[in-house]
Amino acid sequence: MAVAFSIREANKRDLERVIWINRTVLPENYPSFYFNIHLNNFPKAFLVAEIGDKIVGYIMCRVEQGELLTKPGVIGRKGHIVSLAVLPEARRKGIGTTLINKALDAMYREYRADEYYLEVRVSNTPAINLYKKLNFKIIRIIPGYYLDGEDAYLMARSAP
Ligand code: ACO
Ligand code: ZN
Repeated sequence: MAVAFSIREANKRDLERVIWINRTVLPENYPSFYFNIHLNNFPKAFLVAEIGDKIVGYIMCRVEQGELLTKPGVIGRKGHIVSLAVLPEARRKGIGTTLINKALDAMYREYRADEYYLEVRVSNTPAINLYKKLNFKIIRIIPGYYLDGEDAYLMARSAP
């Protein structure tokens, strides 16, 4: 049976729960000011997913200026998916897909992103499958990107 979930912009009161989900689900953890900065600077692209009144996932993004991965030699605005996580009990219901699609839309419409990109562990098959489904392509491997030495795939896609 389909489970009802909703997506909305995050606010400051959500950050404690978002940070808890980040620590529970991902080895890449950040100090709370890092979440605060993203919420302050890119609030339209910092989203939470709720089932009932419980937050079960989030996506945090920022938009940077630089050489486009999808158009080498061209300077533009790069929409960076910084962190995405859904609690285990809420997975495979389309929440990750919806969080990304809404965040990509916000980065394009609110912050004029020309492309989107992210890094993902080469062993993280669920996430890689999700990004491929959404048309992200592997640009290259970043050797030893993670603190434990694992490599990352750098993946990108044009906007919108
Ligand atoms: N195995 C294989 N493919 C998977 C899996 C899995 N376990 N989970 C998701 N996928 C793929 C499938 O193609 C799936 O479509 P389907 O269910 O129709 O087969 C598709 O992704 C979409 O799945 P969703 O239900 O939309 O995604 P979900 O809500 O389960 O969230 C996520 C996916 C965010 C990767 C979740 O598994 C998670 O939180 N994992 C741990 C944290 C993590 O890895 N975050 C990403 C790190 S990289 C970064 O943050 C930039
Ligand atoms: Zn990143």
